[in-house]
Amino acid sequence: MTLEIEALDPIGARLHGLELGAGLDDAGFEQLHAALLEHGVLVVPGQPLAMPEQVALGRRFGELEGYEFTLASPNRNVIVITNVGPDGKVMPRDSTAMRAIEINERWHTDSSFREVPASVSIFAAQRVPEVGGDTFYASLRKGWLSLPEEKQAELHGLRAVHDYAEAYRRTGGEIPGMEVQDLTGVTHPIVRVHPETGERALYLSSHTSGVEGMDAEAGRALLDGLLAWCTREPAVYRHRWAVDDVLLWDNRCMLHRAEGFDETHPRRMHHVRVAGTGPVQPG
Ligand code: SIN
Repeated sequence: MTLEIEALDPIGARLHGLELGAGLDDAGFEQLHAALLEHGVLVVPGQPLAMPEQVALGRRFGELEGYEFTLASPNRNVIVITNVGPDGKVMPRDSTAMRAIEINERWHTDSSFREVPASVSIFAAQRVPEVGGDTFYASLRKGWLSLPEEKQAELHGLRAVHDYAEAYRRTGGEIPGMEVQDLTGVTHPIVRVHPETGERALYLSSHTSGVEGMDAEAGRALLDGLLAWCTREPAVYRHRWAVDDVLLWDNRCMLHRAEGFDETHPRRMHHVRVAGTGPVQPG
């Protein structure tokens, strides 16, 4: 099979002619990896990946994140993001599990609350709602490149505080049983160098409480302004899911967020995250 790469508007690419399961040979993986570095988010339709296959694909990128805190999943390397409860019924929006998922509706990069956040995410659609439940993507590399030089210079050396507890506070308070909200904030550079491409990108998330050493209000205003700039409508790719779509994205240069949807429609996604190497600021 020959790999075809179809560029998406305004960012990302759709791949055809690649099988992500056990049939993916080393040459195919190298093409996938190169396409991800170039495009930031990849859509690969028609991939009915079993959980172990998705985990195996993730391991080819590097060591995986493991989860002690996550919602019921049979595999510690897979987060199951679903509105379907163990009884097979759709859970109400105000349930603990749904409130934990709702936080994904704010722009973020995966695991930015960790000292070493995720590098690559692999997301596989098992069940999708008839309406809603799309996922949106924005490029932090393009966001950085499109800033005026004076603004770029202003950001030099600044570090944002990434604080998951803050994110919970902003979305309606604590959620019982979610240990992740007990984590204390970590700081990451607002501008980072991609460890594989050497390119610069902003590094942002809604799960930030401010900028280190800056007045709280001024820090929040700076971060909110940058986030709004990167996620302005024409710069965003919106993905409408189909069952067996697999999306890969590079958290070192991409933001994403989920869309809320009618909670009477079942949705189930399997999420694997590759552990990164820690954001490095430009010298
Ligand atoms: C996520 O933000 O990790 C999940 C996105 C989604 O459910 O669409």
